[in-house]
Amino acid sequence: MAGRLGNTSAFAVLIRQTPSMSESAVNVRSMRDDEFELVRALEVAAFGDDESIGVLLDALRASWAWVPELSFVAERDGEICAHVSFTRAILDAPERLVDVLVLSPVGVLPELQHQGIGSTMITQALTIVESTRTEPAVFLEGNPLLYTRFGFEPACAIGFRRPSLRTPEPAFQVFRLSAFDESLRGTLVYPDAFWRTDSVGLR
Ligand SMILES: CC(C)(COP(=O)(O)OP(=O)(O)OC[C@H]1O[C@@H](n2cnc3c(N)ncnc32)[C@H](O)[C@@H]1OP(=O)(O)O)[C@@H](O)C(=O)NCCC(=O)NCCS
Repeated sequence: MAGRLGNTSAFAVLIRQTPSMSESAVNVRSMRDDEFELVRALEVAAFGDDESIGVLLDALRASWAWVPELSFVAERDGEICAHVSFTRAILDAPERLVDVLVLSPVGVLPELQHQGIGSTMITQALTIVESTRTEPAVFLEGNPLLYTRFGFEPACAIGFRRPSLRTPEPAFQVFRLSAFDESLRGTLVYPDAFWRTDSVGLR
């Protein structure tokens, strides 16, 4: 398993949005455990009051896949307005099992969407993951129009197999971390929490 991280406060990153956005600074940092209920409500709201996102978060948090330091929040004007989680998953590679990460879920408060906050948070979170983790890759399923701008690329095109037939091939994407090896191949196996909550695949 990948190494645990130390003091979460070390991951606080202060950045300023581009001039086209609000002049308010956005602070990206690891979520504190006592912020979980607030973050859960934020994600449910972000997905249009979809309670299944909350159920997924509950299941992830109670599982081996949860890495506390890899749940990130974005704050603006001192208020949490967005969240993204990276959790452990397994790549079923030809010679062995490889620890990898999955990005999911990600959400911005409905009234603050499309203001650049999600992009800022994902970019900063990936920078932190890149500099602190030993896994070779982050996988996700989502709209390529959104994620290619962060450096995600179609995973099937470079030898990875999607976890489910309900995951459209273009949606299955990978971000190469510094430990990425060009020979890496295999099938993404989501942690159990995604299966038990029927959260695999886009519908
Ligand atoms: C998706 C989400 C996290 C993006 O955060 P955001 O702060 O709204 O996005 P940004 O303002 O940084 O915009 C990033 C770009 O992605 C686009 N975008 C936003 N939501 C998108 C979506 N669901 N699918 C595709 N593209 C999307 C925006 O139009 C923007 O593109 P542009 O700059 O070319 O106009 C946010 O809109 C959200 O919480 N949506 C509801 C939950 C959700 O769909 N989560 C992702 C599931 S894969």
